[in-house]
Amino acid sequence: MYQKGQTIIATLSDLAEDDKCYAKLPDGMSVFIRGTLAIGDTVEATIYKAKKSYLEAQFTKLLSPSPLRTEPKCEVFGICGGCKWQHLDYHAQLQQKNKHVLDALTHIGGFGNIQMLEPIGATAIYHYRNKVDFSLSTSRYLLPNERNAPRSDKRNDFALGFHAPQRYDKVIDLEQCHIAPEEANLVLNAVRTFALNHNLSIYDTRTHNGFLRNLVVRKAFRTKQLMVNLVTSWHDASLMNQLLTALHNALGTSLTTFVNNISTKKNTVAFGEEEFVIFGSGFITERLGDYHFKISANSFFQTNSEQAERLYETVRDFAGLSGNETVYDLYCGTGSISIFISKQCQKVLGIELVDSAIRDAITNATDNSITNCTFRQLDLMKFETLRNELESFGMPDVVITDPPRAGMHPKAVQTMMQFAPKKIVYVSCNPASLARDGKMICDSGMYRLVKVQAVDMFPHTNHIESVALFETINSETT
Ligand SMILES: C[S@@+](CC[C@H](N)C(=O)[O-])C[C@H]1O[C@@H](n2cnc3c(N)ncnc32)[C@H](O)[C@@H]1O
Repeated sequence: MYQKGQTIIATLSDLAEDDKCYAKLPDGMSVFIRGTLAIGDTVEATIYKAKKSYLEAQFTKLLSPSPLRTEPKCEVFGICGGCKWQHLDYHAQLQQKNKHVLDALTHIGGFGNIQMLEPIGATAIYHYRNKVDFSLSTSRYLLPNERNAPRSDKRNDFALGFHAPQRYDKVIDLEQCHIAPEEANLVLNAVRTFALNHNLSIYDTRTHNGFLRNLVVRKAFRTKQLMVNLVTSWHDASLMNQLLTALHNALGTSLTTFVNNISTKKNTVAFGEEEFVIFGSGFITERLGDYHFKISANSFFQTNSEQAERLYETVRDFAGLSGNETVYDLYCGTGSISIFISKQCQKVLGIELVDSAIRDAITNATDNSITNCTFRQLDLMKFETLRNELESFGMPDVVITDPPRAGMHPKAVQTMMQFAPKKIVYVSCNPASLARDGKMICDSGMYRLVKVQAVDMFPHTNHIESVALFETINSETT
């Protein structure tokens, strides 16, 4: 019998949710240990929850470090919630992520004999994000080493960086982020110096007063274009022109556009109701495969361009298109998947909830001279209401679906299956949702799971994207 307060020794075999790791004790008991730990570490921990089938414990001492440990680059590793796995060798990260997908499909989906392809890792594991969203706060998060020794070089009422985990009021004042593009760090420091020198106020979430709200940097890696978007509570043209000079000094010709978004909302979301273009065109253009995509301050775009290309290639490959197919692209966002596969099929119908995304999708298709993609704004919870329109468009041979983290609404899964496509290519950023929806698809008796490919879009985090191919039972094996 295990008890609360008891000390245990365990060798960790898996990384689990949140800050926990998993180990099996010699008698078979499962334990989740909280702490920034690596697979292969042998640790001492104190039990704080003792259930019949599992324990939860707090890490207390590292007895033997794992050979898979690596030195994290980041100065605020373990404090900032962004890159929780930076201390683990990248190959081990990738294997862990692949295992998470496999475990979810096995335990939640009830699948056996799953054909998991080798996970596709990123070649750039640092500076890979094409978008970073820094926050400003009047309350600087104090790092553990400065709590008893206040710093004279930093103000406590000014912070520009990322929110500390679970602290929506406090921001860690950062000089650099290692997964952001290099230029974003130059922008970060130039804006900080400018704001402090000009004594600019910061939007306060309690009083709703203050000027500076968010700083967003977006980089198109293929075209080398760079956008800075400063979100403020009001527009001050003279100040923005002075800031433009500071940005030019920091970035030289790398800066291609600078916009000022204005938000009057009582929230800290980096989204403006009005936009002022201070410099350049107000957008950047990124290339994925043969296609280019216009990205403005508020448009959605996959955050890792290189891996988005790998993801879309996998989707196209799994769809196995010959040129004659009618394809539905559900949850199509700004239409990138529809456009990416458009040359390989007869026609695509993209469906998406957000109006502005549909407008961007239409623009993207037109800009790429694509004429066989149609986009329709619809809540997929009401998918069945489109039945007549869909029948005249043509029933799908292939459905591609890329829902948000929560997965598909059961009604949308039902409707999708009623259309009886030969193939369903399910793209997922949440293995648990994929497993649940995959189970529903296969429990119908119409489909089987053929293969799964994990693609890592976010090195050092526990996030993993996966693509699963479902085929009708009577289809030929791919
Ligand atoms: C993971 S993103 C898809 C991204 C897109 N396939 C891409 O690669 O750029 C999920 C999309 O689902 C949309 N969405 C969320 N709920 C929806 C709903 N009920 N009906 C239709 N679309 C929805 C979101 O607006 C978002 O664009």
